[in-house]
Amino acid sequence: MTSASRAVRALPLLAVLAAAPPPAPAAAQSLQPADWDAGIRLAEAVDRNPDPDIVEVDFEARVARVEIAPGVEVDAWTYNGSIPGPTIRVKVGDRLIVHFTNNLPRPSTIHWHGLRIPIEMDGVPGYSQEPVEPGGTFTYDFVVPDAGIYWYHPHVMSAAQVGFGLYGAFLVEDPDENVGIADDLIIVLSDIDLTEEGTLASPDTGGSVGMLFGREGNHVLVNGRRTPGLIARAGAPQRWRVVNAAKSRYFMLDLGEGHVFRKIGGDGGLTEYSEDHEFLVLGAGERADVIVRPTGEPGGNTVLRSLLHDRGYGSTEFRDLEDLISITFADLPPHAGGALPETRRAMEPYALDGATEIELELTVAQDPADKSFSYGINHVPFWQAQPVVAGLADTHIWTVTNSTDWSHPLHLHGFFFMVLDDAGAPVRPLEWKDTVDIPHRKTVRLAVRFDERPGTWIFHCHVLDHAEGGLLSAVHLELPLADFRNLLKH
Ligand code: C2O
Ligand code: CU
Ligand code: CU
Repeated sequence: MTSASRAVRALPLLAVLAAAPPPAPAAAQSLQPADWDAGIRLAEAVDRNPDPDIVEVDFEARVARVEIAPGVEVDAWTYNGSIPGPTIRVKVGDRLIVHFTNNLPRPSTIHWHGLRIPIEMDGVPGYSQEPVEPGGTFTYDFVVPDAGIYWYHPHVMSAAQVGFGLYGAFLVEDPDENVGIADDLIIVLSDIDLTEEGTLASPDTGGSVGMLFGREGNHVLVNGRRTPGLIARAGAPQRWRVVNAAKSRYFMLDLGEGHVFRKIGGDGGLTEYSEDHEFLVLGAGERADVIVRPTGEPGGNTVLRSLLHDRGYGSTEFRDLEDLISITFADLPPHAGGALPETRRAMEPYALDGATEIELELTVAQDPADKSFSYGINHVPFWQAQPVVAGLADTHIWTVTNSTDWSHPLHLHGFFFMVLDDAGAPVRPLEWKDTVDIPHRKTVRLAVRFDERPGTWIFHCHVLDHAEGGLLSAVHLELPLADFRNLLKH
């Protein structure tokens, strides 16, 4: 038989194989005791639309009394009465409709952090929408483009409003993804600043020096509670999607000796391949998708801690470690390990030939007259800034130099960064990032590819005091000038 005829004979079989559906991945089984996460699990937004591909929810921003620890209550600013607000859970490609009512005493909006949606839905007064006045409403309505763990928060007086409790998780699932772990948790890290009387502290304590440091709340919260508990089966893997929703604070997660965080995803979905980390550092606004396997004696205890991370001058002195989650091991035989799953995602780095080079310096200045500080980008605070101009589908390489004594998690609305190393090559594993830490006195290079969504997209430090103190600018994405001229001719 010639090889050609063999090939022909093989065809019908190939056709059959191609038509057969891929074997359904075996659904992962829970390894945890019943109610293992009852002390920590977040409430989800209620979908009132029967269409399986549309999620339609009601969000009301209002002041509500919440309990952050046994017997410790505060009148916080909330979505639907809780902090964090309800978790939004959708499938990639779903349409999300959010009927937003603002019953706060101040104007507000909702910004969908990390989502590549049209500018009209981006939620930034002065750039993409009018503020929603007290008593007013706005309908957000968009198709969710990418799987991953995102979050939402207001973009009016952000430092104050986020600090008062306005934030929530936004999980976009990919039905085709199969990590093989049934036990998963969303972990929203934040903090809140309370007075001794237990009321919300003023968001501008310390004046411009407070702004310069970036104010942290005096109570660290995990899913809105102080050190909530988890009941785990020792040795059983869990998947955690972690969001840093704090207005200034960085977290450096540590599960103790012998534990690793297998990082499988970051800001914009799965990374190129999984990678183990002893500690997990998250600047304000960043996310991580990790697999962990807490181990210990049945009946015993361990704790997820945050270590001290140096985010700049004065950020580690006189500070304590923070206990985040208290993990009690159930009275069950430990789960007999096995290797943790490895993940891979086919990702193409951005092509960088012909990319436009942009230099951005993160700066700080003091007013000689009143001695107040302000941050800037290339020495100009946002109230004087001219936007960076980009053409549709352009690629940029930003060289960002931090000339200040504090680190800045730099966040771009609407697009993903690809981080470059010192030689200009993409950092592996690839990760789509919307928020990248620029450590104090360091330079980081970032590539960004714009697409076909014109608009003025802001970028800013996600230490929200820094953003309000000047560290914010914008990219104006538009048709190239030549195309405008052509349009005018016709
Ligand atoms: Cu998460 Cu401009 O914000
Ligand atoms: Cu954002
Ligand atoms: Cu900053």
